[in-house]
Amino acid sequence: MKTQAADMATLHEVIYPALTGNRRFLDFSPNSVHFAHSETAVFQSLLSNLRPACSIEVGTETGATLALIARHSTRTISIDIDPGVKSRLQDKFENVEFITGSSHDVLPVLLSRLTGEGVTPDFIFVDGDHSAAGVLKDLEFILKLTPTKQMIVLMHDTFNPGCRQGILAASWTRNPHCHFVDLDFCPGVLHPDDSCTRQMWGGLGLAVFLPQVRKHTLEVKQTHRLTFEAAFLQSVYNRAPRSR
Ligand SMILES: C[S@@+](CC[C@H](N)C(=O)[O-])C[C@H]1O[C@@H](n2cnc3c(N)ncnc32)[C@H](O)[C@@H]1O
Repeated sequence: MKTQAADMATLHEVIYPALTGNRRFLDFSPNSVHFAHSETAVFQSLLSNLRPACSIEVGTETGATLALIARHSTRTISIDIDPGVKSRLQDKFENVEFITGSSHDVLPVLLSRLTGEGVTPDFIFVDGDHSAAGVLKDLEFILKLTPTKQMIVLMHDTFNPGCRQGILAASWTRNPHCHFVDLDFCPGVLHPDDSCTRQMWGGLGLAVFLPQVRKHTLEVKQTHRLTFEAAFLQSVYNRAPRSR
C-alpha cells in the first residue's frame, strides 16, 4: 500500500518533528504503511532522558536509528558487517565510531576494550543478525558484562518469531545484574505491506541492568504474548491453514 503524498508531507513536517524535535534522518519509503512511530517515540523518550555517555548499536544499515542514538549520546559505537555502512555514514556523524565486522567477532572485543577503559555502556541497541542463533550470540556477549552503572539494552524485532526465539533462549537469569526484561516493551506488527505481507517484524524488547545484585526472581516478560500468538496464527510462519 502506498502512502499518499499528503500523508507523507504531514509525517515529515508535523508528526516526526513532533515526536523527535527534528526531521527524519532519511526519507520515509512511500511503499510502507509501517513507519514504526511507536518505536521512534520509545527511542526519543528513553534517549532524551538517559543522555548516554556511551551507546552501542549492533546493526546500523540505513543510519535511521543511529541518528536517534547519536543525537542523544556523547559517544556512540556502531557495528555492522556491511562495509558500505561506514563509507556511507561516517561523514554524517561526528560522535560515532564505526566498526566493520560481524558482531559475533567484534562485539566481545569492543566490550572488553570498554571494560578496560572502565566504561559501562549506558545504552545498547541490538539490531544486527536477526536469526535465533545470531541474536542469541550477541546477547550472550552482553550478558557477560558486570555493569558499574545502569545499562539499558533495547532489542529490535522481538515480534519476529525467529528473533524472539533467540532472545528468549538467552541466559538472562544467569546475569545477577539483570533486573528487568520485557520482550514486548513496544509490540511489533503483522505486516499489511505488499512487500512483506503477513510477516511479523518490529517490536522493542527492553532489559535493565544495574550494578547492584538482583534480589528478586527475574521474570522474562512477554507482556504482549497473546497478541504475538494471535498474529502468528495469521502469519506466513504458520504452516497450518489460516482463517480468512
Ligand atoms: C535490520 S538492519 C538494521 C537497521 C538499522 N538499525 C536502521 O536503522 O536502518 C540489520 C543490519 O545488521 C547487519 N548485520 C547482520 N548480521 C550482522 C552481524 N553478524 N554483525 C554485524 N552486523 C550484522 C546488516 O548488515 C544490517 O545492516
